[in-house]
Amino acid sequence: MSRTLIVYYSRKGENYWNGSIKNLEKGNTEIVAEMIADLTGGDLFEMDTVKTYPADYYACIDEAKEELRRKDRPELKTYPESLDGYDTIFVGYPNWWGTMPMAMFTFLEHYDLSGKKIIPFCTMKEAEWAEVKEI
Ligand SMILES: Cc1cc2nc3c(=O)[nH]c(=O)nc-3n(C[C@H](O)[C@H](O)[C@H](O)COP(=O)(O)O)c2cc1C
Repeated sequence: MSRTLIVYYSRKGENYWNGSIKNLEKGNTEIVAEMIADLTGGDLFEMDTVKTYPADYYACIDEAKEELRRKDRPELKTYPESLDGYDTIFVGYPNWWGTMPMAMFTFLEHYDLSGKKIIPFCTMKEAEWAEVKEI
């Protein structure tokens, strides 16, 4: 087993890709996670939520905004049983309203990450959204 884990969340369906909305068969963050796995030889773990987010981009935007307001912790389908064997953990996620999808907080709060090297990476549409300031 590798001592490096790449955990990521990535949403298929309508999303921004190269400046416009496309229907993605593979999410942007998943593509980057796989590149990191190739480079590091690390193990990949894709997080998945019990709830299904809308494939429609704008419906998903609204739902994620409400989750952020409520500080939700969406339930995950599965977790790695233990992170004990890993000393480096890449944490990958799409920028959702200027922060991580709430489900990534669910994951991180599930474990004691003391002493581990955490390397976040993030994909996004652009650096700043006017709407983020309204939350
Ligand atoms: C719910 C939601 C919220 C988003 N919020 C932002 C944002 O605040 N800033 C931004 O630049 N992009 C935002 N985006 C665009 C995504 O971060 C971007 O398309 C990302 O690469 C998607 O990654 P994925 O395909 O791995 O899910 C948002 C997308 C969604 C679906």
